[in-house]
Amino acid sequence: MLPKPTHEGSLFVEEAIKRRRTVRSFSSRPMKKQDLSQLLYAAQGITEDHGFKRAAPSGGALYPLDVYTVVGDKGVEGLEAGVYHYIPSGHRIEHVTTGDRKEELAKASLHQMWMAKPPLNFVITAQYSRICSKYGDRGVRYAMIEAGHVGQNIFLQAEALGLKAGIVGAFEDMKVINVLGIPKKHEPLLIMPVGYRA
Ligand SMILES: Cc1cc2nc3c(=O)[nH]c(=O)nc-3n(C[C@H](O)[C@H](O)[C@H](O)COP(=O)(O)O)c2cc1C
Repeated sequence: MLPKPTHEGSLFVEEAIKRRRTVRSFSSRPMKKQDLSQLLYAAQGITEDHGFKRAAPSGGALYPLDVYTVVGDKGVEGLEAGVYHYIPSGHRIEHVTTGDRKEELAKASLHQMWMAKPPLNFVITAQYSRICSKYGDRGVRYAMIEAGHVGQNIFLQAEALGLKAGIVGAFEDMKVINVLGIPKKHEPLLIMPVGYRA
């Protein structure tokens, strides 16, 4: 179980939008579990008290995306290094793979080694069948648009927490799937390194 997310903050959304930038220079300072919880909630958390709808919009409310977190050694206080799968229902994470995979993930991303420095990377994946069963090929477009919304939510939430985020689309899909140890049908769309700016 993750700590409960909060619905209050000290940064106006206007200021978060103004400040947002892709950052590629991070320190390895660990992140609090509360901050990880808040970021995952902003990405894909269920925001209805009695329902299933999430922080980001989704075509037909079919939710084709999954968010994985690649946590480094001493990356998040109280969490061992590994790959975790976010489960929106119940706001929790499931352990997928053990060990610090950040460096391998950076190598799978055309050796963008700056990605290995911050405490964690989020990987947003799409399972197209969940949405294409209703919308046909157009579902692929909808899933990609949704990933953009999730990415911006992560960017803005990171700002509000005093953190910074990067965004990476240059990677080899199969290598990323293998590094994470996730099902092949979960196709990676975006990787977002998050942490404190160096
Ligand atoms: C879909 C997408 C893929 C991107 N891929 C990479 C990447 O692989 N590596 C990288 O350093 N930046 C990547 N970027 C970041 C862009 O270079 C960055 O957004 C752009 O320079 C504008 O800067 P800003 O985000 O700071 O406003 C990507 C951005 C997007 C939206």
